[in-house]
Amino acid sequence: MQLWQEMEREGMEELIFCHDADSGLRAVIAIHSTALGPALGGCRYWTYASEEEAVRDAVKLAKGMTYKNAISGLPYGGGKVVIWDVPFAKNVKQDQGSHGSQSVERVASEQKVAADQVTHPQDKSLDTDVSRRAQRFRALGRCLERLNGRYVTGLDLGTTAIDMDQIRMETAYVTDTTGSLGAQDDFTAEMTAYGVYIGIVTSLRQQGIASLQSIPVAVQGLGKVGYALCRYLHAAGARLIVADVVPERVQRALVQFSGAISADPAHIHAADCKVFAPCALGGVLTPATVEELRCSIVAGAANNQLSERQLVAGRMQARGILYAPDYVLNAGGIISTAYELEGAGPDLIRQNVAGIAGTLSKVYAEAAQSAISTADAADRLAESIL
Ligand code: NAI
Repeated sequence: MQLWQEMEREGMEELIFCHDADSGLRAVIAIHSTALGPALGGCRYWTYASEEEAVRDAVKLAKGMTYKNAISGLPYGGGKVVIWDVPFAKNVKQDQGSHGSQSVERVASEQKVAADQVTHPQDKSLDTDVSRRAQRFRALGRCLERLNGRYVTGLDLGTTAIDMDQIRMETAYVTDTTGSLGAQDDFTAEMTAYGVYIGIVTSLRQQGIASLQSIPVAVQGLGKVGYALCRYLHAAGARLIVADVVPERVQRALVQFSGAISADPAHIHAADCKVFAPCALGGVLTPATVEELRCSIVAGAANNQLSERQLVAGRMQARGILYAPDYVLNAGGIISTAYELEGAGPDLIRQNVAGIAGTLSKVYAEAAQSAISTADAADRLAESIL
């Protein structure tokens, strides 16, 4: 991998590689920009097939945070830390390129033992993996402390509030520790969902529709964000079409939201609806699926929804489909973190998340005025702030 070329291409400020022999920590701290303030973005603990994949992920995520924080009007730059989750007892095998995704079961089990560790500190049956995991986060905390606040970390995929507590033992530059609003998963997801809901309302207004009453909205993914979004939409009178790969989640939604119907998760993007809200995985809008859309608005929480950004955004524009750029719409979580850092409580945070309406309107105005896609308009606005 040509690191400096990659950094130049993505406009990265700094990449810091951290290693701790005792715990086996391998982390890369990616600081994309501190132009607007300290870099803010979460800590991902994930398995990667190679060093290159881990570094690329860190760079891509850090850059995304710069744009998201900038366009959301936050006084923070963008950064991310990626810990390469090399299994404790199998470092060699993993190094040799065993592919594969994070073992959800293993993380869940580690988290459970870690939680037990907090409630029963005397428990002699502690898994050594857990204490080594804790050591990794403490070692990372020492690395962050050396950066003197240029980067502030928090929760992301594969990390828990207990991990953040370990970092906090070494540095103050961490959010989402136990007891914080951000450590309550539901609060961050709730704020993300609220922001998406506000964005859907704004997008409908853009198309001259003043109310969600009887408007069909297809929600892909009924996890933390998707489910909370359904709650907002249902309360506003929308007709829900829902899909998830976990049938129980669909059943729960059908029972809770009267009038909701289910769709095949693989084809919900093609549902006959006004709004399609991707709230599961990234990359759902491809050159093929974009041709199958029957909605007039795409507005959801998933990160990196467009598999080929220029191409797919261009096709939506050409087809008259209004695309609410993902990082504008799903900023509720980071807005919440940023305001909590300033000491704000839930009400003030919610008020600031509602500001996504104004940001999105600016994006739509810029796109219309310059005859560019809404994705390009969002980038242009973020870059002008930077
Ligand atoms: P989650 O993991 O709680 O929920 C994801 C849901 O999608 C699960 O119910 C899963 O079963 C379902 N799913 C997976 N593959 C699917 C498929 N092919 N079709 C239909 N459903 C499928 O995740 P969460 O927190 O709700 O996040 C959803 C999306 O929003 C993710 O892309 C995430 O990166 C993004 N996001 C979340 C934020 C948050 O505050 N949680 C903040 C910003 C972005």
